[in-house]
Amino acid sequence: MNNVISINKKKPNDMLADFQKQNIKFDINKLKSACNEILKTKGFDTSLGIPHFAAISLNQIPGDPDSIKGNKVRGVYWTKPDSTGVEVSRDVNIDESKYTEFVKDYENTYFKFVYEELSKKFKLGRVRLLLKEPRSTLSWHRDPEPRLHIPIYTNPGAIMVIDNIAHHMPADGSVWVTNNLKYHNAFNGGEENRVHLVACVLDYKFN
Ligand SMILES: [Fe+2]
Repeated sequence: MNNVISINKKKPNDMLADFQKQNIKFDINKLKSACNEILKTKGFDTSLGIPHFAAISLNQIPGDPDSIKGNKVRGVYWTKPDSTGVEVSRDVNIDESKYTEFVKDYENTYFKFVYEELSKKFKLGRVRLLLKEPRSTLSWHRDPEPRLHIPIYTNPGAIMVIDNIAHHMPADGSVWVTNNLKYHNAFNGGEENRVHLVACVLDYKFN
């Protein structure tokens, strides 16, 4: 049984080296309300070409609404899609450092405060609300930079796997930075949507 990964067992900190909980916390009720508020007026963009995945961008390149459309909402990643195990890249390169303008439509929501607080601590690229539908998974892939997560809606079966470590991040206002430079995946094995605020972090180093 030694090679079975239990997600319920308390993991020693070194096992969570690629899931780093940050010393900052937000109000989960306000996060949920802000998310509901946005969803009332704007649905998730489900036209991104990835099944069961959708996004709402919270920041953009100043004055450039096209910077949060189509494949710019996804961005480059690398995956091993078939039996050869050969890595290929997908999608387009993004200049994350240009995403400095909070989207005006959401300025009156709690996310504006969250964005400002996070910006004091981290050099952020794109900041998005990401939806993972029930009983769905991403590809096995790696990204160009670490990602910051604030789970807003989740369930015990919504789990991220980095390399060979699986971890559920609870929706309690906590902030995590995950090592997306390693191969990883996220799946939602529950029966409700999973929604995380996910930001690209440009100045965060994992060992
Ligand atoms: Fe990723």
